[in-house]
Amino acid sequence: MLILKNISYSIAGKNILKSVSCEFHARMLSVILGPSGAGKTTLARIVKGFIHQDSGEIIFPRGDVKDIQKRMGFVFQFPEDAFFAETVYDEIAYGIRNFGLDEEKKRVKEAVHLVGLSQEILNRDPATLSYGEKRRIAISSVVVFNPDWIMFDEPFSGLDWQGKNAMKKILMNMKGKTSIMVITHDLSPLVDIFDWIVLMNRGTTIFSLPAERILWDEVETSGVNIPFHIKVGMELKKENLFHNIPLTLSEFVKEIKGLSR
Ligand SMILES: Nc1ncnc2c1ncn2[C@@H]1O[C@H](COP(=O)(O)OP(=O)(O)OP(=O)(O)O)[C@@H](O)[C@H]1O
Ligand SMILES: [Mg+2]
Repeated sequence: MLILKNISYSIAGKNILKSVSCEFHARMLSVILGPSGAGKTTLARIVKGFIHQDSGEIIFPRGDVKDIQKRMGFVFQFPEDAFFAETVYDEIAYGIRNFGLDEEKKRVKEAVHLVGLSQEILNRDPATLSYGEKRRIAISSVVVFNPDWIMFDEPFSGLDWQGKNAMKKILMNMKGKTSIMVITHDLSPLVDIFDWIVLMNRGTTIFSLPAERILWDEVETSGVNIPFHIKVGMELKKENLFHNIPLTLSEFVKEIKGLSR
């Protein structure tokens, strides 16, 4: 578990984070949701330890925060922009070169498998990959470290529908084994798989709650997109027709079936 308590951060005379408090649980898939400019990336950079807060604390009850930060993977928003190696293999293996060759090969193989790509891609020049493949290789180069915690900054950005589904599959493959934090301004691709949600707006946290207790009215007020079936569910709940606001499509269908009884 990671607890953030009253985190504040200013830069260039601008107060970017104001008393942010929230928590993240081990082996859950947590979402940091909020509109553009809410402070999500800044918060993520503090959690990873790239920058330091002006005040407030990060608490890791089971050990030293610095240790967990070291073992935390961070997938940047457009990670494929930072490719430098001549082959995909070297791109992924670069950070684990001191692990011994057998271990290195084994880890690279697993990392490519986890993102759903075939081993043939390892000999390719990263520059020749498709956009979606690049994104997946960039993720491989982080998961190859076997991080305990991993942070994804807007992993769905720039991907088409198929790419988004592939990304969702990668997250599902990791779910339950790794503690995952996903920064996003759109909950749609994650709506049936997230466990925990932190809503941010204007530099502060609005809530930090398990998925089933999400406050949709607050999400709507913050100005982020709400999946259509949930919007309909919110309206029908207001009309006392639905008992609950359905998170997934199957929950939605269940509520509809309940109407006819
Ligand atoms: N180094 C900096 N100097 C000045 N302003 C900054 C700096 N870093 C962040 N900001 C400002 O802080 C605010 C929050 O930025 P941040 O990148 O954390 O938002 P975000 O929620 O990740 O937004 P997005 O969804 O657009 O990525 C923005 O208004 C941004 O311009
Ligand atoms: Mg951001």
